[in-house]
Amino acid sequence: MASDMFSLDGKVVTVVGAGAGIGEAVALAAAAQGAHVVCLDLNAGHAEATAARIVKDGGRSEAGTIDLGDETQIDGSFQRIADAHGRFDGLVCTPAINVRKPILKYSLAEFDKVVSLNLRGNFAALMAAGRLMTPQKSGSIVLFSSIRSIVTEPGQAVYSMTKAGILQLAKSAATEWAPMGVRVNAIGPGVTETPLTAPIKANADWYNAYAAKNPMNRWAQPSEMAGATVFLLSDAASYVTGTIIYVDGGWLAADGRFTPPGM
Ligand SMILES: NC(=O)c1ccc[n+]([C@@H]2O[C@H](COP(=O)([O-])OP(=O)(O)OC[C@H]3O[C@@H](n4cnc5c(N)ncnc54)[C@H](O)[C@@H]3O)[C@@H](O)[C@H]2O)c1
Repeated sequence: MASDMFSLDGKVVTVVGAGAGIGEAVALAAAAQGAHVVCLDLNAGHAEATAARIVKDGGRSEAGTIDLGDETQIDGSFQRIADAHGRFDGLVCTPAINVRKPILKYSLAEFDKVVSLNLRGNFAALMAAGRLMTPQKSGSIVLFSSIRSIVTEPGQAVYSMTKAGILQLAKSAATEWAPMGVRVNAIGPGVTETPLTAPIKANADWYNAYAAKNPMNRWAQPSEMAGATVFLLSDAASYVTGTIIYVDGGWLAADGRFTPPGM
C-alpha cells in the first residue's frame, strides 16, 4: 500500500553518530517510522540519551559506543547487532570533522586527522556493513556528503575533498553491491545547525552570510535531513542507488551573485 512505502517496520537500522546533530535527528525519525534503531556514537552518554528518548516516545532502541577509528570495534559491534537481531537492514553513518584553514596553513597532521575520520572511518563502517548485508542480499547504506562535494570556499580544501570522496565511495559501493541487493546512497546537507557548525553560529556575520546565500534565507534544522534519509532507508527507494540527495534549501541551484530588479 502506498501509505506504507516509507515504513521502516521490522527493519534494524544502525545509526553511527546518533549522539548529536543530524545522526540524532535521523535516529529519532527512523524509530518514528517503525525501525528498531541502534544508536552508536563515540560519546556513549549521548548515544544512550538518544536511545532513551526513542524508548520514551514508544519506539524500540538500544545504544552502544563506537569509535570509527577502530575497525576491530566497528566489525565487532555490527556483528553483535546482526547476531542479536538476525539481520542488519540499514546503516546511516554521519561522523565527520572539519579543520577550517587555508591550504598554506594546513599541517599534514591536521590533514590526516580529517581524512582519517571522514574517509577512512566512514569507509571502515561501510565495509563492515557490506560484509553483513551482501550475504543477506538486502540492505541500505546512507553516507553523509555535503554541498562541499560540489562547491567550496577558502578554508575548506580538505573537508571538501573528503565530502567529494564520500560521494564517489557511495557510487562505487552501489555498483559493486547492487547485484547483491544492497543499495548505497549519500545525503548532501546544506548548512545545518548542529554542534559541528556551532563555531559558525557563534559568529553573526558568518551565520547570516550563509543564511543569505541560500534561496530559503535560513539554515536547516537537523530534523530536516531526516526525511530524505528515511526515504533512502525505506522500500520507497527500492530502485535508488549510487546517488546523492542534496537537502540544501536550494544552495546549489543559485549562483548567489545578485537578484535582478523586479524579480
Ligand atoms: N551540519 C552541517 O551544516 C553539515 C553540512 C553539510 C554536511 N554535513 C555532514 O553531515 C554529517 C553530520 O554532521 P553533524 O553536523 O550532525 O555533525 P556533529 O559533529 O554535530 O555530530 C557528529 C557525531 O559524530 C560523533 N563522532 C565523532 N567522531 C566519531 C568517531 N570517531 N566515531 C564515532 N562517532 C563519532 C560525535 O560524537 C557526534 O555525536 C557530517 O558528515 C557532516 O560532514 C553537515
